Amino acid sequence: MTFVCVPDFACNPLIQQAMALLPILIYPDPRLQKIAAPVSRVDAEIRQLVADMAETMYAAPGVGLAATQVDVHLQVIVIDASDDKSQLQVFINPQILTREGECEGEEGCLSVPGIYDNVVRSASVRVRALGIDGEVFEMDAEGMLAVCVQHEIDHLQGKLFVDYLSRLKQTRIKTKLIKHHPRLTA
Ligand code: NI
Repeated sequence: MTFVCVPDFACNPLIQQAMALLPILIYPDPRLQKIAAPVSRVDAEIRQLVADMAETMYAAPGVGLAATQVDVHLQVIVIDASDDKSQLQVFINPQILTREGECEGEEGCLSVPGIYDNVVRSASVRVRALGIDGEVFEMDAEGMLAVCVQHEIDHLQGKLFVDYLSRLKQTRIKTKLIKHHPRLTA
């Protein structure tokens, strides 16, 4: 594992806890289909979860991670869609308010390692969520960030990008991943 330096993240006074890497569930683990519950209060436990999820995402490396993927079934997402990995974004209890347009692009997922395929998403979305400070914010996302937000919110609803693919492709992907991760059950 290579150490990833994330200056902005490390400097955030709200996230000063020691961080830990969390194991990521691999498709077709049935726990990836669980529906995440809303967070009732952004407390120290949630901030620790966010810190651990961010470290896990940067180490993988990935552009986004939902709590569902680390077997915590709460509505928490971390995303960093920046080129230099300097813009950690935290979405707690995220909701998509509006959607516009359509775009198709290749997606991958830390829970579906080595698999990439095209998915059609909304081109831009307006999102409302709580930040790591517990305050409500709204933001407009487009491009890769918009795709990432939709992909991660899907995880919180127990849905993966492979669910948009054909049955045949899903079966092939399951077979391949079970073969490479023999401890998994389908
Ligand atoms: Ni994913």
